Amino acid sequence: MVFLRQLSETGRNFVSKPHRFDNRVEDSVLGGAVSVQTIAEVLTQHVLAAADKAGHGDVLDSVEPTVPTNNPKFGDYQSNHAFRIGRALKTNPRQVAEQVCSQMSEHPAVKRAEVAGPGFINFHLNDAWMGQHVQTQLQDAQFGVPQSGADKTLVIDFSAPNVAKRMHVGHMRSTIIGDALMRLHRATGWHVISDNHIGDWGTQYGKLVVGWDRWRDEDAFAGDPIGELERLYVRFGVEAESDASLHAAARAETAKLQAGDARVLDLWKQFIAVSLAEFDQVYQRLDVHFDETLGESHYNEQLPGIVEELEAAGIAQQSDGAVIIRFDDEHENKTLRGTVLVIRKQDGAYLYGTTDLATIRHRSRTWSPSRVVYVTDLRQQLHFQQFFDAWRAWDPDGTADDIELIHTWFGIIKDPTGAMSTRAGNVIRLVELMDEAVRRARAIVDEKSPQLSDAERAEVAEVVGVGSVRYADLSQNPQSDVSFDWDRMLAMDGNTAPYLLYSYARCRSIQRKSDDAQSLDPSSLAMEHPRSRELVSSISRFPEAVQQSIANLRPNVLCDYLFELANAFNRFYYDVSVLKTEEDDLRRCRLALVEATALTLERGLGMLGIGVLSRM
Ligand code: ARG
Repeated sequence: MVFLRQLSETGRNFVSKPHRFDNRVEDSVLGGAVSVQTIAEVLTQHVLAAADKAGHGDVLDSVEPTVPTNNPKFGDYQSNHAFRIGRALKTNPRQVAEQVCSQMSEHPAVKRAEVAGPGFINFHLNDAWMGQHVQTQLQDAQFGVPQSGADKTLVIDFSAPNVAKRMHVGHMRSTIIGDALMRLHRATGWHVISDNHIGDWGTQYGKLVVGWDRWRDEDAFAGDPIGELERLYVRFGVEAESDASLHAAARAETAKLQAGDARVLDLWKQFIAVSLAEFDQVYQRLDVHFDETLGESHYNEQLPGIVEELEAAGIAQQSDGAVIIRFDDEHENKTLRGTVLVIRKQDGAYLYGTTDLATIRHRSRTWSPSRVVYVTDLRQQLHFQQFFDAWRAWDPDGTADDIELIHTWFGIIKDPTGAMSTRAGNVIRLVELMDEAVRRARAIVDEKSPQLSDAERAEVAEVVGVGSVRYADLSQNPQSDVSFDWDRMLAMDGNTAPYLLYSYARCRSIQRKSDDAQSLDPSSLAMEHPRSRELVSSISRFPEAVQQSIANLRPNVLCDYLFELANAFNRFYYDVSVLKTEEDDLRRCRLALVEATALTLERGLGMLGIGVLSRM
């Protein structure tokens, strides 16, 4: 198969992928090993069949799905296929829509299909079919989410803090967003390898060794190892201003490290160990796990050979004693034009980009991934675009065209209240940040739920506190700047973790109060009330929300969906009295709907790494 190279953007993530067809719809729309189709997929196929009968089959080679409407006036789903056909044939889309509609056969899902406006086709779904569809969804192990990643491997590179430095809030965002992206990929069937590419190599270690030998405070190191290492690093900078010999000393220590000197190597290992111990506290608290932690140092020995290869291939060149890759002025990617990626400095040191080239080669050889995703803040955009391009040019194993490389970047956190800094203006430890979130959540639970035992309140505070920090990050578009605001993230109303968790707990509380709860089986969902129908419809859209979230690599799409679902549930709760429903069958149906809501919320929150609580 021949792949053309293509640079494109998914949202504003930078995607460098082999070109088959540019299609925002995941492969499942086009068939594949899918257990349950989403409603959008069912309807899309229905439209395509009719379009084919109307003689337009070959026009629609690239398929956009039928999408949910945002106004019930227009039915449940809307197709804009007629516009695509109209554009291709230069005919009036309204006419095309009417033609296609007239060719539509009966479909159990469709109560009514009608042409609207300049050429939309609106679908009103059949209630019984929709109820049945939701039941199938709930019984499916994947919750009806198409397994478009089946048989594919993803390597995801996130968190990746630097050793001997405090993990900063950018690393926290990378950790939270990366973890959610990993969970979302798993939910769509991908085989996932998470690799923590920690920064554990560089000339700073020579400086640290010099600092350690001269100024270390062992007690301080025991209490806050990273804090002490940061202090030594800063002290080195200050002292070196008046004593230039320190630089030579640091270079000598770095050289010893590279030569494998036992003492220096031991120190370096100790710095890594204490740093990883602190990072692990954050990971444990967030329930984040890595399959691999192959830091930069893992690739040291490969770097000289790689630079040689790149030079020999004419991809890299000598420039003032350094080795660089120059991107020409006509480069197809405008951002790269005239830029330079240094892969070896004058002094012989290798760089971040050199290591990334070695790393992708290792990942390609070890896991044969279809996709590699990197999650960092926006400042690294140029780096990734350069390195992706260099990798495709180099292509040492002929695999570059099989791998889609994606840099998904996020904005900077604004901190108007200073929550992220210590009084001295330093970045605070992320564990302390989470402690503070839990403390604040605890104060709220103590006040609002005194009936819970002490142990229960502690559990609620932990889930709500950590979940809120997480959700506050995930629920915003990653590529906009976000602000960190305790009150907003812990608010009981609005698009927040506490609101979603509370909605879930409300479901469980309704069930506890009912004698029917034990025999609960969501086998028939009542849609006699508009609020019930709205809720069933919302639940039925879960797979599409997950699909869209992953297609755009944006967890916030799933957050928005869950918020909508919780809203639909709360409207149902206020307008339809579940427990007071007289008629037994109807009451059981309504309870089934409560169960369906709870299961969907739980599954969705789980994909974001947030646990649920039966009481709060
Ligand atoms: N350690 C880097 C930093 O803190 C992030 C590494 C991202 N991953 C990569 N393969 N370059 O900025």
